Amino acid sequence: MTIKEQLEQIVSDVKERLISIKSKVDLMNEKANVLGKKGPFAQIMANMRNLSIEEKKEIGQITNVAKQELETAIQDKLNELNEEEINKRLLEETVDVTMPGMKLSLGTIHPLNQTIMDLEDLFISMGYEVADGPEIETDEYCFEKLNLPKGHPARDMQDTFYIDTVRLLRSQTSPVQARTMELKNGQPIKIVCPGKVYRRDQDDATHSHQFMQFEGLVLGHNISMADLKGALSEIAKKMFGQDRKIRLRPSFFPFTEPSVEVDVSCMRCNNQGCPTCKGTGWIEVLGAGMVNNNVLRMSGYDPDKIQGFAFGVGVERVAMLKYGIDDIRNFYTNDIRFIRKFKEVK
Ligand code: DAH
Repeated sequence: MTIKEQLEQIVSDVKERLISIKSKVDLMNEKANVLGKKGPFAQIMANMRNLSIEEKKEIGQITNVAKQELETAIQDKLNELNEEEINKRLLEETVDVTMPGMKLSLGTIHPLNQTIMDLEDLFISMGYEVADGPEIETDEYCFEKLNLPKGHPARDMQDTFYIDTVRLLRSQTSPVQARTMELKNGQPIKIVCPGKVYRRDQDDATHSHQFMQFEGLVLGHNISMADLKGALSEIAKKMFGQDRKIRLRPSFFPFTEPSVEVDVSCMRCNNQGCPTCKGTGWIEVLGAGMVNNNVLRMSGYDPDKIQGFAFGVGVERVAMLKYGIDDIRNFYTNDIRFIRKFKEVK
């Protein structure tokens, strides 16, 4: 067979094979086999050194023509495969606009957030500002600056999660009092602060290792226990209905002196006695008191010039009473059926 015939044979064989090639990988392999270093073209070129100049010229030319013909055929095949691929994808990714749409499952505001929003609205309407503080607190702000030095027995009730010897997850929102006082630098204050708090408690129907509090602090000139009682009475009415009365019982908190426990007349039985109020007609709702002089001094306030009151309420407790929820864990199990129940209740 002459070289010309050999070349014609190679070209027709390759073209034949190209017809049945279905993938780009196979095509690239074919290209490498034919046009690569070990392919037939490379061999023909290698043999040329035995030919005369005339023959070299002629063979060189027809070899190049054959090579170009194959390169073009391979490129055409590649274009064809690319096009097939695009068409296939277009077909696969077609959107059927006649298909019914996906139903988006909408949730609703969580009853705890709803309670916080209601409380915030109430306090903003009474001239309070909403303040914020970190959940990762220092021992200093969470305890020391609230008159709870190391070793104070009242710390036992607020055992929490410690990050190191200095930092902890705050066990109460009261540290925001100290932080705000330092910011306001001796000036009057009227703030509320909602937020998460943590305690090393065993979870059960009424305890959770993470829950929420709503803290209040009012500092100004000539603020007395009567102002505290007036504010608390107003809050109880707005939260639980106009007929509510309050009752103050002496209590102890290290950051207030005197301290009180605040009971609200039962909203289920209107003070008559029922299972919710355990037959007493009263429900304990929050802790409060006149800010302790030590606390004022530690944060740069002069108790002879400025004094005031503070209170702290459990948000879950308020929501449970308001919505008749009997297990605190319901708030945190993320069951959409529970949350949906509060869609209409407001
Ligand atoms: N921090 C208290 C607690 O977690 C609640 C509290 C009581 C806050 C009295 C106050 C307050 O601001 O005056 O048990």
